[in-house]
Formats: sequence, structure tokens, C-alpha cells
Amino acid sequence: MVDVTKPTIARVYDYSLGGKDNYEVDRAALAKVERIAPRHGELAQMNRRWLVRVVRFLAGSAGIDQFLDIGAGLPTAINTHQVAQQENSDARVIYVDNDPMCAVYGRALLEQNQNTHYLHGDILEAGTLLQNEQVTRHIDRDRPIGVLVCGLLQHLDDGLDPAQVMREYNTLLPDGSFMAVTNFWDPAEENHELHTLAEQLERAFLDGGLGSGWFRTREQQLQYFDGLELLTPGLTELEDWWPAGPATQPQAPEQRVVLGGVGYKRPPDPRRIHPR
Ligand SMILES: C[S@@+](CC[C@H](N)C(=O)[O-])C[C@H]1O[C@@H](n2cnc3c(N)ncnc32)[C@H](O)[C@@H]1O
Repeated sequence: MVDVTKPTIARVYDYSLGGKDNYEVDRAALAKVERIAPRHGELAQMNRRWLVRVVRFLAGSAGIDQFLDIGAGLPTAINTHQVAQQENSDARVIYVDNDPMCAVYGRALLEQNQNTHYLHGDILEAGTLLQNEQVTRHIDRDRPIGVLVCGLLQHLDDGLDPAQVMREYNTLLPDGSFMAVTNFWDPAEENHELHTLAEQLERAFLDGGLGSGWFRTREQQLQYFDGLELLTPGLTELEDWWPAGPATQPQAPEQRVVLGGVGYKRPPDPRRIHPR
């Protein structure tokens, strides 16, 4: 049963991407954010473009053929499995989200072949999730995995210790795996103007009905890659991470308050990583 009296992260995000799986309450929550940052929707598009570039890189030149997309959200225009399977038709993709609506819609719309599955699960339960029977049936824990945690950790409060959550995944993942993360950014002393904007946006997210959406500093976010090697160009503003081409337009301030990066669990001896 869908609760249309409270906004959800997935539906608000769907609306910001121009999707149709959202309700008045979700649109009202985004409107509060857009009062401060009218081009916030473009940030969502930018986040998707970042994800698509990373998946293409991982499934292509990095040779990753199994993916776990945690906090995958509602089906959208271009989904992880479509990008991965375009590079490698045998690539397996398991989507996970703790919002039951995402799992229902995901199963109906994204499970288009035997290599694509959508689970209802929580990032907070790393051990349970990685041992989930559906995950182990499709993902070989002895081989490198591409994990995506995009736009999720900003919805975990400090009490849930997102850095520790990520440390657990980074420890449990097999050598040769990659961890791709995007997160709302508080530039703090790096940029005073953007810091003020991040503070205002955080308020709008917290008070606007969603109740989550914390902007964290670069230093805090670097902890999400503990135990991994951060690939070049590092933890950057989204369009600075291997952009698909030169910038054609100046960026709005609200497009600059998210960082993304990809960590690599470099194997001690790369020759021991066997493709399927
Ligand atoms: C902003 S959306 C991002 C969707 C997609 N990853 C992207 O970057 O385009 C964040 C998603 O994380 C999910 N989420 C929030 N907390 C979660 C948790 N504890 N475990 C799993 N998913 C969670 C939300 O339901 C939502 O669908």
C-alpha cells in the first residue's frame, strides 16, 4: 500500500528527474528545495549521467560483470543494467532499495532478463544483504563486484554512522571490486558561498517533509573509501569526474554541492583475479 501522505526519497528523486511515479506530497517537498535552488532538478540529471559514465567504465574497460546497485531508486530513463549489458550482455545486475515501492516497480519494469533482479533490502545490513540467497545466486563473492551507492548515504543520519556502514562493505567485498559513491556535499571552508547554500538546502530537505538529506564535508566523505584506493580524478564535483566532453554552460551553484568518487580494492596480486 503506497502512503501518499508523506514524501519518499525515491518519489521526490523521480520527480526531480522528470518521472511520473510521484504524488503531490513529493512535488511539494521538492518545491521547497527549488525555492532555494531552482535548478536542483538538473543536479539529479547530473547524478544519473555520472552513474551512467561510471557503469560504462566499470562494465567496459574495467571488465566488471557483476553489479550491486544499492539505493537504486525507481526505474528511470536509463538504468544500470541497460548500460552494463550494453557493454557486456552477460553482466549481472542486482538492484536493492529499502523502499518497497522501488522493489515492486523495479521487479515489474527492470527484470527484463535472467541477469537483472530487484531486491527489497537495506544498506545497513551489509552481512545479510551480501548473503541474501538472491544475491549469492547471481553474484559470485569470489570475483570482483561493482557496487554503486549513489545519492543514498546523505539520507543516513550521523547516528547510523555511514562511514562505518561503508567500511563494512569495503572489508567484505572481494579484491578487485569497485565502490562508486555520490553524496550531497558541504564545501565548508573550501567555498563559503557554496557552504551557505548547502546549509540552506539541508534545512529545506530536513524540514520540507523528507526529514533527511545531510550535506557532508569532503573529509567526511573520504571515509566512505576507507580500505580502497580512490581512482583518479578522486572525489570531485560530478561533472569533473571523467566528463563526457567539455562544459558548454556555466554550472549553477546547486549543481556543485554533490561529490562523486570511485574506490578500487586493488588486489595484492592482480593476476589472481579471474574473469568468469
Ligand atoms: C536519491 S535516490 C538515488 C537513486 C539512484 N541511486 C541514483 O543515484 O540515481 C536514493 C535511494 O536510496 C534509497 N534508500 C534510502 N535509505 C536506504 C537504505 N537504508 N537502504 C537502501 N536504500 C535506501 C531510497 O529509497 C532511494 O530510492
